[in-house]
Amino acid sequence: MVKVFVVYDTKYGNTKLVAEKIVEGMREIKGIETVISDVEEADLERIADSDAILIGSPNHWGGPSRTIRKFIDKLGKLDLKAKWFAVFDTYLGGDFEKAVKKMEKRIGEKLPSLKLITSGLSIRVGGMKGPVIEEEYLRCKDFGKKIANQLLRC
Ligand SMILES: Cc1cc2nc3c(=O)[nH]c(=O)nc-3n(C[C@H](O)[C@H](O)[C@H](O)COP(=O)(O)O)c2cc1C
Repeated sequence: MVKVFVVYDTKYGNTKLVAEKIVEGMREIKGIETVISDVEEADLERIADSDAILIGSPNHWGGPSRTIRKFIDKLGKLDLKAKWFAVFDTYLGGDFEKAVKKMEKRIGEKLPSLKLITSGLSIRVGGMKGPVIEEEYLRCKDFGKKIANQLLRC
């Protein structure tokens, strides 16, 4: 079994919904075990024991939330078994991919031993509090499936 830990931050619930859809996609693939958690409740021991980590954040001022930035820095101090990572974000305006790119960069700096599974997924919401644009859900599920299949090939 390949163990994947999915952790997200959310203020209004949209990034959580995106994380759940990604997990739904991954769970369709045999051989993948997933744990999903809000960043505030994340079990660090379980994270340390995972093969891959997925991190999701709302776009706050053109980057990941402060909570996620701090969390990445905290992960950098752990002794991780994980070899792989991927990120996702939700955004409202013209900030497509900005938070995911910043997360990828920060993880590259703080956790240089982790390799990127695939480029980050950026999902648009219809208003500050959501909802997630309906058509975007399919991309979340596909992202999950793609990651699962890629991890099984490694
Ligand atoms: C403090 C704050 C700053 C934000 N800044 C941006 C921004 O710079 N660009 C953008 O596209 N969306 C921005 N948003 C909209 C959020 O990306 C949107 O509310 C978020 O995707 C909702 O996710 P959540 O329900 O998981 O909190 C901001 C939202 C908040 C609360």
